[in-house]
Amino acid sequence: MPEYEFPYRNPALPIEQRVDDLLKRMTLEEKVDQLMQITIGADTNPNNLGSGHSFRPTIGSVLSYCGGTRNRNAFQRLAVEETRLGIPIIWGFDVIHGWRTAFPIPLAQACSWNPDIVEAGCRVAARESYAEGVDWTFSPMLDVPHDPRWGRVMEGYGEDPLAAGIFGAAAVRGYQGEDPSQPGTVAACLKHFVGYAASEAGHDYAYTDISSRTLHETYLPPFQAAVEAGAMTLMSSFNDITGTPAVANHYTLTEVLRDRWHFRGFVVSDWDGVVQLAHQGYTTNPAEMCRAALSAGNDMEMNSSAYRNIPTLIESGRLKIEVVDEAVRRVLRIKFAKGLFEHPYHEEVDPGTVSLQPKALELSRAAARASMVLLKNEKNTLPLNPDTLRSIALIGPVATDREASAGAWPAIIDPKTIPTLQEVLPSFFPKSEIHYAPGCDYTSDSTEHFAEAIAAAEKSDLVIVAIGEGAGRTGENRSYTNIALPGKQLELLRKIAAVGRPVVLLVSSGRPILYPELEPLANAILHIWECGHGAAAGCCDILTGAYNPSGRLAITFPRSVGQIPIYYNHHPRARDEKAEWGGRYFDLDDSPMYPFGYGLSYTSYEYSDLEISVEDLTAQVTLRNTGKRAGRETVFWYLSDPEAKLTQPLRRLIAFEQVDLAPGEERRLTLQLDRMHDLAYIDPTGKKVFEPGRFILTVGGEKAEFVVAE
Ligand code: BGC
Repeated sequence: MPEYEFPYRNPALPIEQRVDDLLKRMTLEEKVDQLMQITIGADTNPNNLGSGHSFRPTIGSVLSYCGGTRNRNAFQRLAVEETRLGIPIIWGFDVIHGWRTAFPIPLAQACSWNPDIVEAGCRVAARESYAEGVDWTFSPMLDVPHDPRWGRVMEGYGEDPLAAGIFGAAAVRGYQGEDPSQPGTVAACLKHFVGYAASEAGHDYAYTDISSRTLHETYLPPFQAAVEAGAMTLMSSFNDITGTPAVANHYTLTEVLRDRWHFRGFVVSDWDGVVQLAHQGYTTNPAEMCRAALSAGNDMEMNSSAYRNIPTLIESGRLKIEVVDEAVRRVLRIKFAKGLFEHPYHEEVDPGTVSLQPKALELSRAAARASMVLLKNEKNTLPLNPDTLRSIALIGPVATDREASAGAWPAIIDPKTIPTLQEVLPSFFPKSEIHYAPGCDYTSDSTEHFAEAIAAAEKSDLVIVAIGEGAGRTGENRSYTNIALPGKQLELLRKIAAVGRPVVLLVSSGRPILYPELEPLANAILHIWECGHGAAAGCCDILTGAYNPSGRLAITFPRSVGQIPIYYNHHPRARDEKAEWGGRYFDLDDSPMYPFGYGLSYTSYEYSDLEISVEDLTAQVTLRNTGKRAGRETVFWYLSDPEAKLTQPLRRLIAFEQVDLAPGEERRLTLQLDRMHDLAYIDPTGKKVFEPGRFILTVGGEKAEFVVAE
């Protein structure tokens, strides 16, 4: 039995005992440091920790990719070996959809409707980033957006709260593994808590007016699901929630998160979130910012240093030491749970032996093809037959763009390592001559290269046009009023369509874009998002039919920006939406361009015989593959509650599942309904309320009404 200088160093003791022991040995100054996260960018000089900078090695956390494990370990050594108590630093970084191996952006991954894909991708990202010094990722993002003008839609899992929670929980499992204290795992951080996506008019960092009902019904559930999955940390959001900024919001950070959900980890602010209280019109006094955020339940401050005011606040009696102790306790608890005291250093390995491994690249390709969504396929234009196509024109800026595949928030993904469509296509079509011409770039007004593209189309049997938003158009602080494709791309497509060859359109983006003008110009459309290393091969798997497309939209695509906000689970109007006096638009079809859940396949499915047994609350439906190819169907189960004291959305998703079916195969599917889980609604206080009465279940066009009594 080894001897430990202090009990907190003994891994055999329960974490709470270790935390208590360490906490009582700490000075106030050391406590304040634990609540601060500094950013050192690409600084790789360990001597800077404690000298040139205004922080000490007793700092709680560093946000940085400081040149790999060797540098991280050098910094860490100062904290562990040269400070009085040796508390390790926790190293955070934004690993959003992969570290070196790029996976599809989260919005695309959600369109796979496969939580295993999300989990597996996050596991790879954890392993790769840990190998280069990361302990903690600021991911997954569980914001629920209704506005594609907001650039951060790319980072979340779409517009449905249930789906966001299921994918969020999968991400937590992937990042943290079975045992988060083990090397090779990273702590997850659920962000942005909460309501950040309720952005007004698509602006980033905007004020959000959120009713208690919407907060509980739409924005909180994904976080609750991922907290239940064991997420170690959360990040408070930038938005002001109806007058009380999220970083200083006692209701969400303490009453909901801690008192109701029993979350025991810690909350970090977003970047400068504490000092932004000044911009938000809350207070310009740094000490007051500190008091407000800390006492609301925001434990750690990212980047700024308002928390340096803690000692003055304590001295003047404006802040109780118990509040500080509780925040420090939460940070230490996670450091112990993360195994940082036992494994403060990461093994120094060559990143090349961990990252970009064949299995990870194969996974990225599998994720890519499962995430892409087939939007149109007139007269079975797709799949293409590589044996009979003599020539293909490949046109458009996406065909050679590695950065578009890398996607927004690329961590340290190196686009140079990502294969392009132009490089990959020939191996899938070895018998076809491929004529490549970009035609135009993403944003310029130049049409000078149109002629080459038209010539390429003229000499080919078929044209693949690969256009899109271009890198950097979605993500943080990327708000646009116009979500149509930029530049001359539509005009290029018009010219190519006029040539008269079959047109397969591939569109890459990080958000829903406007399709009404593009749609009539193509025979087939595949929305390819930004899908990482496997983007090009995954896309070719679909083009050739090696993979039967199974992606379904996790977010609504509007016809026009004028329809925004637009989302499937909206509430009914006072009149029939379809009627002349139903409040519809007079200048546009009310329906979305492509609804939530939309996506085509190379086969067809038929749903029949939906039956509900009210006695044991089970639903059954028969699903049949009526086409000639094997396929994977996502089954979406929706519930409507047409008569409720608190009126309910037209329908809401209560479950989804994936079913693989051979041609002609049929399966009887069963859904077990639960009164409180599926039939109850969430009231404005967050309570689940079951109201007996009439319900409607829909699945794949089948509909059944049933009554559940008290
Ligand atoms: C973003 C967060 C991110 C943080 C650290 C902020 O600007 O809103 O999502 O985790 O920066 O990079």
